[in-house]
Amino acid sequence: MLTIVKPTLSDGSGFGARIMERLETLAALTDEPGAMTRLYLSPAHRLAADCLRGLFHQLGLDAVVDAVGNVVARYEGHTPGAPALIIGSHIDTVRNAGKYDGNLGVVTALTAVEELVRLGERLPFAIEIVAFGDEEGVRFPTTLSGSRALAGAFDPASLDERDRDGISLGEALVSFGCDPGKIGALARDPKDVLGFVEVHIEQGPVLENRNLPVGVVTAINGATRLAVDVYGAAGHAGTVPMSLRRDALASAAAMMVAIEDLAREQRELVATVGRIEARPGAVNVIPGEVRFTVDVRSPDDAQRRRAVADIETRLASIAQTRSVELKTTTTHEAAASVCHPAIVEQVEAAVVRQSVSPLRLPSGAGHDAMAMARLCPVGMLFVRCEGGISHNPAELITAEDADMAARVLLDFIRHFRPVRAD
Ligand code: GLV
Ligand code: MN
Ligand code: MN
Repeated sequence: MLTIVKPTLSDGSGFGARIMERLETLAALTDEPGAMTRLYLSPAHRLAADCLRGLFHQLGLDAVVDAVGNVVARYEGHTPGAPALIIGSHIDTVRNAGKYDGNLGVVTALTAVEELVRLGERLPFAIEIVAFGDEEGVRFPTTLSGSRALAGAFDPASLDERDRDGISLGEALVSFGCDPGKIGALARDPKDVLGFVEVHIEQGPVLENRNLPVGVVTAINGATRLAVDVYGAAGHAGTVPMSLRRDALASAAAMMVAIEDLAREQRELVATVGRIEARPGAVNVIPGEVRFTVDVRSPDDAQRRRAVADIETRLASIAQTRSVELKTTTTHEAAASVCHPAIVEQVEAAVVRQSVSPLRLPSGAGHDAMAMARLCPVGMLFVRCEGGISHNPAELITAEDADMAARVLLDFIRHFRPVRAD
């Protein structure tokens, strides 16, 4: 169980140690012993949500698990019911993840607000801390369900999407204790939300390279995800001559190489085939059906859309040459998202006040801030991670950098001036 540690100093010393201790505690809440795997709406997600809710309650804050599985806690300002600055990140993870992606932003937000609570310091606005449940989009084909719900952009059709065990998102929500019928009502009125600020590990090597603990995010790359189904003909691996085969897996392999070639031809665009399933999946059977995923990202939406169209054309041509059927479905589409210039400036000012040289950088990874940008002005603070490694158990940050992230966040909150969303 997470505990509240009473710091002995009021200047924020000790944030780093507490953040790291809490991250270790959360890292024990996994669906896979020996690995950090906490998929959306899984038993480990429930444990992590309950653990956080308990800690918020210990701080005397209202905290609920909402209809889409987000943990939402609220620290009132001078006047109860005032519009809120939302801070936080996500607590779902990829399979065999690191301990910091998402979780760092939630724990840092919690630790910063703990300091305000400890000092009895109220602000002219409320603060809400949110632990989103579905940033990674690993369990279901859709992603950012939690932040989309708050932004009023949750698509009810996604409730019918199924995980690899055939469980629908709607069914998983009910098992988690949520009422999917109430997701629509989670949409916030923009008048009640002043902004969203997310602390997150960089997941890349730039800050380490520049010897900086934190950096100020300017924009987040857009992304498209596809599910590609290839239908060939299953057959006996010993009897069907090579010339008469319609091998779905060999066709998919050719498609994957074509996708990699296409991405390599372009600056800044990246494309990844991250998951593949072949059926029937036996050593002596020609694969008859394959499903694989494609993830395409770019800071330039027009470039990304062109690349996705080119990928579809190249796959169709390979399918035709190899006499297999092809079905391509877009499972996720997010435009590149720009952090609000006034929030960027305010985050940067907090970085400077903490005596760190300010560096602005874009994000190659996706974040809840992309979905929240539909609702309110957003900003992000990146924290250096060792070797830029992420989505990997080797993901690592230092307590000193976590301490600096909490100091910058707290400083940002204390100086925050609402900006107009436009
Ligand atoms: C989330 O980590 C993503 O960018 O895929
Ligand atoms: Mn993340
Ligand atoms: Mn991630």
